[in-house]
Amino acid sequence: MSYIIRPWALKDLKAVVRLIRESASLHKALDQVKTTPEMLRDDGFREDATFGSLVAEVPPEQRSKEGDTIVGYQFHYLTYCTWDGHILFGEDLYVLPGFRGKGIGSSLLAKAAKIALAKGCSQIRFISANWNQPATDFYTKLGALNVTVQDNWNLCSIEREQIQKLVEQGRK
Ligand SMILES: CC(C)(COP(=O)(O)OP(=O)(O)OC[C@H]1O[C@@H](n2cnc3c(N)ncnc32)[C@H](O)[C@@H]1OP(=O)(O)O)[C@@H](O)C(=O)NCCC(=O)NCCS
Repeated sequence: MSYIIRPWALKDLKAVVRLIRESASLHKALDQVKTTPEMLRDDGFREDATFGSLVAEVPPEQRSKEGDTIVGYQFHYLTYCTWDGHILFGEDLYVLPGFRGKGIGSSLLAKAAKIALAKGCSQIRFISANWNQPATDFYTKLGALNVTVQDNWNLCSIEREQIQKLVEQGRK
């Protein structure tokens, strides 16, 4: 199978949103996906866009039964660690089921690693569901450390309603 890994372009928006939804379905969280192609276009293709995506593309003759030629994506943005400088955060990595086990996932991650080095990052960080053993095996094979276990970190979130409360209760 031949494929290329390249930065996403405006023409990929619909395809990437489809894959984002596939990935969310796998995590039983489709109802939480609020992003639309228009949102990603407005947020992702302006001059000061803070995130980017890589896509894996196969030639038309190798498209999926559903007609996909964009068969995987890796979504990332820069964040910063006060201890260690820039970090590339990998938000999503997804390959369509029929295209797995052919090197596409590791090629997407290798290209993200190239971006991380070019931007002077000290780490690539990401979240992986603890029930997703295939993903854990995949990342372990590629040298990832589980810092939740190793360093006892908890992943925390303050959601929109609580953010609002924090603002309203604003202590001086
Ligand atoms: C995880 C994922 C991105 C891997 O993509 P892929 O294209 O299948 O991976 P590759 O073909 O590059 O495989 C790389 C290595 O990982 C191994 N691997 C891939 N999938 C694996 C699996 N399900 N279980 C165990 N090992 C796996 C391969 O054997 C390969 O090792 P090798 O190079 O020694 O043969 C893909 O399976 C996927 O999209 N899964 C669903 C979404 C997901 O779990 N994303 C990651 C968490 S957010």
